[in-house]
Amino acid sequence: MSPDRISLTRYLIEEQRAGRIGPDLRLLIEVVARACKSISVAVGKGALGGVLGDAGTDGGSINVQGEAQKKLDVLSNEILLEANAWGGHLAGLASEEMEHSQPIPDVYPRGNYLLLFDPLDGSSNIDVNVSVGTIFSVLRCPEGVTSPADEHFLQPGTAQVAAGYCVYGPSTVLVLTVGHGTHFFTLDRELGSFVLTQREVRIPEDTQEFAINASNQRHWEAPVQRYVADLLAGKTGPRGKDFNMRWVASMVADVHRILTRGGVFMYPLDAKCVAKGGRLRLMYEANPMALLVEQAGGAASTGRGRILEVAPTQLHQRVPVFLGSKHEVEAAGRYHAEAS
Ligand code: AHG
Ligand code: MN
Ligand code: MN
Ligand code: MN
Repeated sequence: MSPDRISLTRYLIEEQRAGRIGPDLRLLIEVVARACKSISVAVGKGALGGVLGDAGTDGGSINVQGEAQKKLDVLSNEILLEANAWGGHLAGLASEEMEHSQPIPDVYPRGNYLLLFDPLDGSSNIDVNVSVGTIFSVLRCPEGVTSPADEHFLQPGTAQVAAGYCVYGPSTVLVLTVGHGTHFFTLDRELGSFVLTQREVRIPEDTQEFAINASNQRHWEAPVQRYVADLLAGKTGPRGKDFNMRWVASMVADVHRILTRGGVFMYPLDAKCVAKGGRLRLMYEANPMALLVEQAGGAASTGRGRILEVAPTQLHQRVPVFLGSKHEVEAAGRYHAEAS
């Protein structure tokens, strides 16, 4: 590797030397990155690997979310569980695909961290060969707890010690924060190593691009109806500028675009998801993305407050999400405030 190429391993060792992370957190992130490499290989094989399509012999495997599981949802979950079981860095794990958290088995040493993940985000896109990803969040295991249960994971996003995602697109990119900026590491497939390709990512404060599933428009709350109508009104409307729209339906891909060139991503409350509190899951989708976005100078809100300050009550809790370019997230918040 050329001397000016900084691998993820070197980046983490330098963070450790600077006193920003300890050896256990460094190992944890290395292990998650290694699992993401395996998932990237499985995703990349596509039809040749026999990994496309629904899980379950009758195509009827439903997860705790009430969603039909894809084979790759199950496989990615297994890869992350297996990789993280024996290293001694974790006390427990929780996943979108598992109803309850799991303490690390007794046969292995237990560490001080808790890991939450969405093993495969955007899994409805797998069969059409569109970008998917893995999202993760790291918390400290509360003092004195040796066998963590669901309640020990219920910490606000501000308590995260690290967060990230890996997007499996034309290239595989790991996006990471340990609370000191958000950084991109691109997978060098020949060497099997993540290489730092963008340090200190910054999201522009202003944008002319938004992301929302417009098919839900008739179900949105009034302030969201009004906000999006004003975006669509363009130059001659109250916002005085034209907006472009994008919706990948993989949160990782939509957030990656926003970290790369700005924008605002929204999954608001609507009549279909209001009973559940929103569409996206707080602990392993909204919180890690909110930390990455804030660390890149952006903002992340529920429309009514900062995502990272939501006090969780359930492992699979859902929240409305507005994140990305700061001024636009603030504008969406103003529409909510004016409606109340
Ligand atoms: P997952 O595949 O992990 O269940 O998450 C899917 C999420 C998120 O990635 C995306 O933004 C959203 O679902 C898309 O929802 P719609 O299908 O309602 O657009
Ligand atoms: Mn799912
Ligand atoms: Mn997801
Ligand atoms: Mn998922």
